[in-house]
Amino acid sequence: MCGIVGYAGSTPACSKPLEVCLQGLSRLEYRGYDSAGVALSAPGMQRVAVRKKEGRLDNLVQSIDQTPLPDATVGIGHTRWATNGAPSDENAHPHLSQNEKVAIIHNGIIENAPQIKQELLSEGYTFDSVTDTEVAAKLLGKVADEVIAETGHPDIFEALRRVARTFEGTFTILATDCRQPDVVVGARHDSPLVVGLGEGENFLGSDVAAFVAYTKQALELGQDEAVQISADSVTVTDFFGNDVELRPFTVDWDASASEKGGWASFMDKEIHEQPQAVADTLLGRFNLTGDLNLDEVRIDEDVFRSIDKIIVIACGTAAYAGMVAKYAIEHWVRIPVEVELAHEFRYRDPILTPRTLVVAISQSGETMDTLMALRHAREQGSRVLAICNTQGSSIPRESDAVLYTHAGPEIAVASTKAFVAQIVAAYVLGLYFAQVKGTMYHDEIRKIVDELRAMPAKIQHVLDTQGESVREAAEHSLDAESFLFLGRHVGYPVAMEGALKLKEIAYTFTEGFAAGELKHGPIALVDEGEPVVIIVPPARGRNVLHAKVISAIEEVRARGAYTIAVAEEGDDDVRDYADVVFWRPQCPTLLSPLVDVIPLQLFAMNMAELKGLDVDKPRNLAKSVTVE
Ligand code: F6R
Repeated sequence: MCGIVGYAGSTPACSKPLEVCLQGLSRLEYRGYDSAGVALSAPGMQRVAVRKKEGRLDNLVQSIDQTPLPDATVGIGHTRWATNGAPSDENAHPHLSQNEKVAIIHNGIIENAPQIKQELLSEGYTFDSVTDTEVAAKLLGKVADEVIAETGHPDIFEALRRVARTFEGTFTILATDCRQPDVVVGARHDSPLVVGLGEGENFLGSDVAAFVAYTKQALELGQDEAVQISADSVTVTDFFGNDVELRPFTVDWDASASEKGGWASFMDKEIHEQPQAVADTLLGRFNLTGDLNLDEVRIDEDVFRSIDKIIVIACGTAAYAGMVAKYAIEHWVRIPVEVELAHEFRYRDPILTPRTLVVAISQSGETMDTLMALRHAREQGSRVLAICNTQGSSIPRESDAVLYTHAGPEIAVASTKAFVAQIVAAYVLGLYFAQVKGTMYHDEIRKIVDELRAMPAKIQHVLDTQGESVREAAEHSLDAESFLFLGRHVGYPVAMEGALKLKEIAYTFTEGFAAGELKHGPIALVDEGEPVVIIVPPARGRNVLHAKVISAIEEVRARGAYTIAVAEEGDDDVRDYADVVFWRPQCPTLLSPLVDVIPLQLFAMNMAELKGLDVDKPRNLAKSVTVE
């Protein structure tokens, strides 16, 4: 939510700060697209140069093309997902101090802004917007002047640390002061910020996508830390000015990974990257004999052996990945696995012990609900292992251990490749548990590992063969007002995920539920022409669920439903009952979500495209939900 970029480098002033900010914003736009803005400082400026526009980044770019901004030495840029104040030019960031010498951008919510505003109003300050960010800008300007009065010289770093100590809520703030046009400063509390280390230039960003086109060397910023960057220095302290330990890392993907390439949308590209995401997430996690090697998680094997319960905490798609993992891990490891939405877990009284392993699944690593839940779990004495796709982000940093998914940057708001990578990582974890606890024979593990390794090719097969039937089903259902998605066993979370995709990007009212529930109520919704999507479990292996799901198809069809089935190749029973079948290759039931979900993602994307909607940036949503 909200993308932030900062740049310090060029002397003399030139167009690079603006170029870096706009380029960074274009890569961060998935974090919010209600408005965009930049602020630039250079020696000799009497006030910070600011331009901001409601709507997509293109509006800002057009405005700058029409009326160019001055050359600069430093810059900050912001793309907004509105939390506080509707999307408008006034509420867009950056916001200025009263004397216009300081500009700030902000991600998060400053909860005590109303009280601060009252005090500032009583001192004669005026406000143009209704945002908490403008309050922060006015306060920072005031404190910056106080620091000058005290010390005789500008020190925006010290001023920012002072105001950061007074804010309640969540924030990442970047600021520039035209009296110090060689630095950009930042501070973070419960909101993301990373530093990019260049040569003769340095960067700040909500995530590494902001600067990966310029450098892959980065620094994590910890909780309640502040940073000052100039062309040739980076200083990180806590909010009281004390030095802190630096945590450098190297970004493991290229700038091209966050570009659309020739694809119609990022979602299209990311759906097609799933074979690679699965292969990369498996890479390096097994030795030659098929044994799992998870040294990277840095939790002792004895600790794993002592675990008697797993609780998965996550939100949205990540929670559905957790639900899939539950079926496999309980089967393989024979310990209970609970899956809970992080925001629900946090505010009840969950039973946690030192023998509980909490697994926090998050693509972004910044989802505030998940972060709060993991903090709660650790406070209660449980260990937390993160399954995460984003280096340098808060959730892995605050967890006891991390298992990274290697899906590469996911830009489209609707999650696709992260979902399959999360399932694979959770399976790796489950198999590792089975190995150290001895609940499965080596050969059994080896067999599943081999099946997992075969999944990229099977996903590719679905991508190569199912496009036409998916398009046909989407065209047929285009005018449907609602959809039902049904599944059983691992097909149940897949149905929920398929339904979520359709809600998110095609804005269609959709319900996903366990097929067994149909007769307990939802069948009342089925009417003539209602599209019902059913995930059919394999018939092989005398799977009793197969016949039950086929019955569910018959029941809805008898009531006039248009039935779309996802089924295993060779399942001839389905052909007679479904109007359309999305076929997928044979694989073990527990691995089937990795292929079953693919046509559902394509289906949602086709629906959105046919409706002329923006597939990558659905309304009201942002990629990384950094508020609770
Ligand atoms: C759906 C989607 C969301 C996220 C959820 C958690 O397509 O993307 O439901 O899965 O907001 O996000 P992360 O995984 O970043 O914690």
